[in-house]
Amino acid sequence: MPTIADLCALEILDSRGHPTLQVTLRLDDGTCASASVPSGASTGANEAVELRDGDPARYGGLGVRKAITHVEGEIATALRGMAVDDQETIDQTMIDLDGTDNKARLGANAILGVSMAAARVRAKIIGLPLYASLSDRGGRQLPMPCMNVLNGGKHADSGLDFQEFMIVPVGAPSFAEAMRYGSQTYGALRKILHDRKLATSVGDEGGFAPALPDNEAACEVIVEAITAAGFRPGEDVAIALDPAASSFGGDGSYNLERSGKGHLGRAAMLALYGRWIDAYPIVSIEDGFAEDDWQGFQNQMTAQGDRIQIVGDDLLVTNPRFIARAIEQRAVNALLVKLNQIGTVTEAIAATRMAQQAGWAAMVSHRSGETTDDFIADFAVALGAGQIKSGAPCRGERLAKYNRLMAIERELGNAASFGSPFSRQVAQ
Ligand code: PGA
Ligand code: ZN
Repeated sequence: MPTIADLCALEILDSRGHPTLQVTLRLDDGTCASASVPSGASTGANEAVELRDGDPARYGGLGVRKAITHVEGEIATALRGMAVDDQETIDQTMIDLDGTDNKARLGANAILGVSMAAARVRAKIIGLPLYASLSDRGGRQLPMPCMNVLNGGKHADSGLDFQEFMIVPVGAPSFAEAMRYGSQTYGALRKILHDRKLATSVGDEGGFAPALPDNEAACEVIVEAITAAGFRPGEDVAIALDPAASSFGGDGSYNLERSGKGHLGRAAMLALYGRWIDAYPIVSIEDGFAEDDWQGFQNQMTAQGDRIQIVGDDLLVTNPRFIARAIEQRAVNALLVKLNQIGTVTEAIAATRMAQQAGWAAMVSHRSGETTDDFIADFAVALGAGQIKSGAPCRGERLAKYNRLMAIERELGNAASFGSPFSRQVAQ
C-alpha cells in the first residue's frame, strides 16, 4: 500500500467569491486526489471552527492562508508516511494533532480538505468509485433530491424570512426522473414569476429570490408551479422547508420582520407550521425553531412528528454530542449531514450512522458557499442517506452534485434503488 508523500493546499474562491481551500494529497507512488471545502452563511453556533485569517487587507478577513499553512506544515508532517487504507486513523491523527474539541487550532476547513482528499485517493488506490469505497454495505440507494427553488433569509435579499423553500419529487421513479420533475417545476416557477413581473435572478443556492409579500406566498407560488409543470402537488412533487429559524429567532421568540408579521412566540410558530402542513403538501421542516430552542423542537415532534419529517441542522451540527441529546429528548426525526460542521469524513459517517440507528432519516447537505466538488453525491450514496439537498437545479456548483448522482445511477444500472422516504406523509 502506497503512503502519503505530500499535501498541498491552494486558496481558491467559492461560489460567493470567498476564499476556501482546495487540498491535493499525493502518495509516494504518484497517485493524487484533490478536494475542496464548502462554507456556510447561516452557520450553527456549535459548528467546528472554520479558520479565517482575519486580515482586513485581504478578502475582508476571510483569507485562508493560515489554514493552508497548517495543511502544508503540521498536518503534512504528521501524516507523511501513513497508508491511506484506514480513513479513521488519518482523521484521528488530525483530531489529536489539533487538540481542541471544535478544531479551532488547525481549522475544520484545513482538516476536512485533507480528510476528503484522503478518502478520494484511497478510492483510487483500491480501484473503486468513491461511493463504493466509502460504503461498508454496498451503497446502492440514490438519495431523494430536495431542490431549493426559492431563497430567503441569509441567502437572498428577497422578502422571505424563511431561508429555503424546496421541491421534492416524491413521485419520481428514478433519480434522473426526479431531476427532470425538479427542473421542469423550476422552469414553470421562473415563468410564473416573470409573468408577474417579479425578479427571476437567483440567490446563493440557485433558487429565485423574488420580492414576494410573505412566506405563505412562496408556498402558494410553488404549488402553482408544480401544477403548471404538469405534476400533482403532494403526489408527484412535494415541498420541504428550511426556515433556518436561528437566523430570525432565539429564546423562544421569532421575528418575521421581512414579511411584516412581527414577533411570534414558540407556540405561535408551531401553530403556523400546523396551518401550513394542512394547507400545503409539506413533507419536511428543517430548523423550524432556533438552535437554542430544544423545547420548540420537542413540541413540534409531539404535535407534528408523525405527519412530517423534522430535521435538525443548526440544532445538531452533525455532532454526536447533540445527536445523542436529540435522541434522548425526541427532538427531531431526521439529521442534516454537513461534513464541514464536524470536520472529518469519519465523524460525519459516525454521526449519520448514529441517526440511522435511532430510526431517523438522514439528509446530506451542501453549504450555501460551494465549489464544484461533488464529494457529497458519493457520500450520500455510500451512506444510504435517502435524501440530499444541493440547491436548485441551477448554478454549476449545485448541479455538480446532482449530475454526479445521475452518473452514479447509470453506473449502478439495475442495482440502483430509488424511492420516496416520505410515502407515509404525502397523501394530501
Ligand atoms: P448555510 O445554509 O450553508 O448557509 O449554513 C444551509 C442550511 O441552513 O441548511
Ligand atoms: Zn439548514
